[in-house]
Amino acid sequence: DTVTYDFNISWVSANPDGGTRRPTIGINGQWPLPLIQATLGDTVEVNVLNQLGNQSTSLHFHGLFMRDTPHMDGTSAISQCAIAPGESFQYKFKVDQPGTYWYHSHTQAQYPDGLRGPLIVHDPNAPFAGEYERDVVITVSDWYHRQMAELLPAYMSQSHMLMDPVPDAVLLNDTHDLRVPVGGSGGNGRKTYLFRLINVGALLGQYLAIQGHEMTVVEVDGVYTRPTRANVLFLAAGQRCSVLVEMKDMPDRNYPIVTEIDTSMIMGSVRISATGWLDYGAQHDEQPRGLNIADALDDLALVPLDEQPLLEADRRIVLNMNVQTIDGAKHWLFNDSPFIPPTEPVLYTALSAGDKAVQPTSYEATSNVFVLAANEVVEIVVNNNHMGRHPFHLHGHHFQLLHRSDDWAGAYHDEMKAVSSPIRRDTAIVNPGGNLVIRFKADNPGVWLFHCHMEWHAHSGLMATMVEDPLSLSLGELSCKDEVNEVDEDEEVDEED
Ligand code: C2O
Repeated sequence: DTVTYDFNISWVSANPDGGTRRPTIGINGQWPLPLIQATLGDTVEVNVLNQLGNQSTSLHFHGLFMRDTPHMDGTSAISQCAIAPGESFQYKFKVDQPGTYWYHSHTQAQYPDGLRGPLIVHDPNAPFAGEYERDVVITVSDWYHRQMAELLPAYMSQSHMLMDPVPDAVLLNDTHDLRVPVGGSGGNGRKTYLFRLINVGALLGQYLAIQGHEMTVVEVDGVYTRPTRANVLFLAAGQRCSVLVEMKDMPDRNYPIVTEIDTSMIMGSVRISATGWLDYGAQHDEQPRGLNIADALDDLALVPLDEQPLLEADRRIVLNMNVQTIDGAKHWLFNDSPFIPPTEPVLYTALSAGDKAVQPTSYEATSNVFVLAANEVVEIVVNNNHMGRHPFHLHGHHFQLLHRSDDWAGAYHDEMKAVSSPIRRDTAIVNPGGNLVIRFKADNPGVWLFHCHMEWHAHSGLMATMVEDPLSLSLGELSCKDEVNEVDEDEEVDEED
């Protein structure tokens, strides 16, 4: 089947934390944004009309591989030209991966202004298909009262020694007052719900627990896992996790869903948390308690249901992270170079370069390009020379998650502990001062980003481009409509009321 969504993207007004009403990017006049839903095998069509007036935009469908349609990946300056104000663009792609995903703007650090929403691909044959009553999507996120147009220039011009802007709030389903109506099993046997948890935030990782309830993890980032019990989960920006939760039998109270932020990116003793409720319709709400974050499930302990042997690496790419001030502007760097968006989308360059598409020198050097050969197995090692915990996301693939060290002492060695059937996901964290080792097979021709999913860092350079098997691409030539769309991206929008 084909599932069609018409999305008119425009500024609306929202006040999700009950703090400050502010201009927010909505769809069809609404915010929070609509859920995109499809069934495995469907074709999804999203017709975008940019009615923002002052900003270009694009939509990326986070976690979907876009096999055979790399020009639908929604990354402006990489897979397409940004959609200028007044213009439209049709995204059309097949969904052949089940599970929990999301969509967001991939233009100019724009999604923290609200352009991010959930996307679910239903799988009638999921291994846990018969085991739950219904599924409930819960997003966790962070929220700023000020617009990116104001925050970004200030961020870019600040010293690299300073930390990132601290969000004003964290939200569950884009509100500070989430109540999820649930039924007790009422003595009629067990009742189980599937919660699909998605961190759509711009910066903060969050720990999450449902008080009084144990969770059983069955999916991360679209990969089914061996059912694994957890009391506390950690979700970095961009990560998803599905959990089965058994409801209580005739409870006399409602139970809190509690999140607490990872404070590694924040100076001082800021403590931000969110509380929502599993609402059994009881008179009383149970008192929320702090989380025992030491109890959080480590994703390295997860095992995919569909076990695949450890890939043998053909090639290793080592990415050393750093942050510096260059010409008065703050930049995050991989191997001493910041990513700066090229003038022509990298995919378009790959398509027009002919045989030269396999030479890294055919691309603008500022885009941190690596050209990958067909089917080579690539190992990426990220070395984090920083105090924060960063989430790295690879487009176009799942990677095998091999190794993560906690500190400098755990530095990477060739003799890594043997991993038998590593978990696969598309977003994984690197610890403060530690490293991360992942592997994937370059079997999806296209141009795929690898970047930190903290929007401040991605925007200021912590991004690399994988040009994968460019000679196998068969998309014809693609070009941007207008050479330059002169739009002042720094212009803030005024609140109308
Ligand atoms: Cu969720 Cu490059 O993105």
